Amino acid sequence: MPSLSEETHGRMARLLPGATIGIIGGGQLGRMMALSARYMGFRIGVLDPTPDCPAAQVADFQVTAAYGDKSAIRELARRSDVLTYEFENVDADAIDEVRDITATPQGTDLLRVTQDRVHEKRFINEHGVRTAPWRQVDDCDALRSAIDNLGYPAVLKTRCGGYDGHGQVVLHDDSDRRRVEDRAEREGRLPPSILEGFVDFAFEASILVSGNGTDFVTFPIVRNIHRHNILHLTIAPARVSKEVERETHALARLLAKGFELSGTLGIELFITRDDRVIVNELAPRPHNSGHYTIEACSIDQFDAHIRGIAGWPLVQPRLLSPAVMVNVLGQHVAPTRALIGDHPEWNVHDYGKAEVKHNRKMGHITVLTDDTERTVGELEATGCWDDLRDSASRRLS
Ligand SMILES: Nc1ncnc2c1ncn2[C@@H]1O[C@H](COP(=O)(O)OP(=O)(O)O)[C@@H](O)[C@H]1O
Ligand SMILES: [Mg+2]
Repeated sequence: MPSLSEETHGRMARLLPGATIGIIGGGQLGRMMALSARYMGFRIGVLDPTPDCPAAQVADFQVTAAYGDKSAIRELARRSDVLTYEFENVDADAIDEVRDITATPQGTDLLRVTQDRVHEKRFINEHGVRTAPWRQVDDCDALRSAIDNLGYPAVLKTRCGGYDGHGQVVLHDDSDRRRVEDRAEREGRLPPSILEGFVDFAFEASILVSGNGTDFVTFPIVRNIHRHNILHLTIAPARVSKEVERETHALARLLAKGFELSGTLGIELFITRDDRVIVNELAPRPHNSGHYTIEACSIDQFDAHIRGIAGWPLVQPRLLSPAVMVNVLGQHVAPTRALIGDHPEWNVHDYGKAEVKHNRKMGHITVLTDDTERTVGELEATGCWDDLRDSASRRLS
């Protein structure tokens, strides 16, 4: 059998087509990674508890087990030339334990930092990058002194495990604080948390950066509109000043370098009215707000992720066309499917999830356009996303 990897500068082995990539997590991000990897001729294994999960449908094999099952991770590692993951709540110790049997170019530092909001904020600030002001909050006394420091309003978030707004609450006044204290008393403790000053942002944005350990490339800055804490729309590119543009790309490279990043990292941002760029959080993987790159960029976030972990060189992505990406949640599946015939401009992505649930990410639609505002208006006018009360187009004007 020919060798499937070659030494590059005596450092990381460059993976060649035919090698197997093991992905921990078989949701939509794993699926889109696997699709990219397929074009390059890689084989794919997936670890996920759900048989026939989105990624397994396009993979060569599935190890069907819980994400935290160490023997299953070991089996995936044994059958793969390189291991990656599609979400941040992977057991970092389990990955460290298989480093002798497969390549883990992403390491586990990035995972450990992004799994804990305190470590994450500290890392970002230590690299000279701005976040919201924050305090570590371990108990109710610490909560009071953090509020004394930061004032109201403030956002209390659990350090670990939060997503789509779960595990966080905005505190406006002492009565909100008392509600948190009462709950902590009932439950016996306050979960390890972080308190952040509330950022009165003009809008939310994000940038993706990809690396192969030594070289880093950045994607365009995009604007994100959330509904009920779930990403609704991404508009590419975001309209930002030259200064915001320069600062954002620079901070993305700086953080990527700090992590010696392999693969793709999503960076969520707040942009203020006076053009300050504030990092909200990091996602050590491709990001929902980067799905537009599949059609709109010269290289997409999944290709860049696979190339990065395979030790391939990376080229700076170019935006080929402005684009709007809209998420299709469970409640949007039926209305959007009914309109497929009317919208040849819709690039329809469906993740192949068996069960349709309210607010579950089932797919997305990307539209390439010369006029993103008009396109947002047209998407909203279909009525498919009417459950999301205040319309994005109103918010945009
Ligand atoms: N410090 C803050 N100030 C203002 N809004 C915030 C702040 N932190 C979070 N938010 C809002 O809550 C959303 C979810 O918070 P985030 O930290 O990204 O958690 P999650 O892991 O749930 O995505 C953000 O996209 C933003 O709209
Ligand atoms: Mg977020």
